[in-house]
Amino acid sequence: MSTLLVQNGLLVDTEWTRHSDVLVEGSKITRIAPHINPAELPQDTEIVHADGLCVLPGLIDAHTHYHLISRGTVTADSFVEGSRCAAFGGVTTVIDFADHEKNATLVESSDRRIDAMSKAMAVDFALHQGVYRWNDDIPAQLAAMKKNGVTTVKLFTTYKNVGYMIDREADIRALFSACKELQLQVSVHCEDDALIQEINGSWNGGYEPKDHADLRPSEVEYRGIKFVGTIAGAVGMPLYIVHLSSKRGLDAVRELRAEGVDLTVETTPHYLFLDRSKLEGSDGSLYVMTPPLRERADNLALQEALLNGEIQVVATDHCSFTREQKLSSHDCRTIYPGIPGTEELLPLVHTFIASSGKLSIQHVVNLLSTGPAKAFGIYPRKGALHVGSDADLVLFSPDESWTLDSHSVHTAAGYTPYEGMEVTGRVVMTYLRGRLIMGDHLYLGIPGDGRFVPESLPEAYHD
Ligand code: URP
Ligand code: ZN
Ligand code: ZN
Repeated sequence: MSTLLVQNGLLVDTEWTRHSDVLVEGSKITRIAPHINPAELPQDTEIVHADGLCVLPGLIDAHTHYHLISRGTVTADSFVEGSRCAAFGGVTTVIDFADHEKNATLVESSDRRIDAMSKAMAVDFALHQGVYRWNDDIPAQLAAMKKNGVTTVKLFTTYKNVGYMIDREADIRALFSACKELQLQVSVHCEDDALIQEINGSWNGGYEPKDHADLRPSEVEYRGIKFVGTIAGAVGMPLYIVHLSSKRGLDAVRELRAEGVDLTVETTPHYLFLDRSKLEGSDGSLYVMTPPLRERADNLALQEALLNGEIQVVATDHCSFTREQKLSSHDCRTIYPGIPGTEELLPLVHTFIASSGKLSIQHVVNLLSTGPAKAFGIYPRKGALHVGSDADLVLFSPDESWTLDSHSVHTAAGYTPYEGMEVTGRVVMTYLRGRLIMGDHLYLGIPGDGRFVPESLPEAYHD
């Protein structure tokens, strides 16, 4: 069994910050103490001096689409490339998506995804299982899926044209009831498809990238959230809202919470820090994702909501296409939607929250690690610096300033949507279960070393 001693780092958990040593034996944290004497450890103990560095629990990117096959193509970052972005970004676990495959049960769909990811991922992973149709057999399928360690399902209130949307309200209600019964976390992409169709029907404008924002305005998000939130309230169950993008969507969250609906809310760095002016240039296609980028006022409203605790998770919706794929169309109806972001997550959020002095780095850990671990039932194995937790450690230099650009990040997309942004804080080393997977700007991840992390009861169902 290997032994690793990380000496004298500033350990940052969600609940505390302390200067301390951390001992890792095999894949687990086994001791945390102010001074652990190396003389008492095996001779071949690896010793890492973390003076001046923060030691964070490995981050969890709770919303990724690595190797997404969609619209006749596949994303640039498959499992191998996505894992590399993750390691450079201090992300040691991703929660990715399994499609509800045609002619397959939910268990078959998630098993196939777990199988494919197990062969190629170099960081750990859990799953959200998409549910795109309802029938009387679905409750039994959900129960079997839960036994396999998938306790979170994903729904869309849009993308009817590509078969992702459950159309009938009664079916959504039945699905929600089944999920409540089984204590499954339901996460939803909220955009009202009917309103999108209505706007499209009377549209007189063009279809350039910038038009994407007007074809799917924030009212669409408001209605989508209200729709699913009202059903969840009636059923009496919690709900997880993915990638909240707008002030208007936040209105819906506030209204539902005021009625007592239990919502966990996720946003992404692009809705916090980028606005629709990015869609204006000749490279506007690079910034097309769904929901679209909004106004600067929306960024500011989400930033405020992040600081005051109305948003619990920041994840990336990493869904990368190469520059060539993105720029192959300038028609927002056919541009492949999605952008990369796993690697940029920590520096962007750390810069906004902690370097700025707005809140502490513990809040960063909560939003990017502990919060998602709890939401999806993988805490405290993940998301914590506790004795007994997986030794997923991020050695982080909090004061290093650098510039995000296509050369400094590792996505196969060949660009970063945050090109030119100055950030403060850089990942120096990333350990996955006690093994170094990134250090000194070198990637040491091994495809196939990433393991599936079975999810247990999501926190929203704790008494
Ligand atoms: O444009 C996006 N976000 N693509 C990924 C799929 C989704 O809707 O999350
Ligand atoms: Zn989505
Ligand atoms: Zn997504």
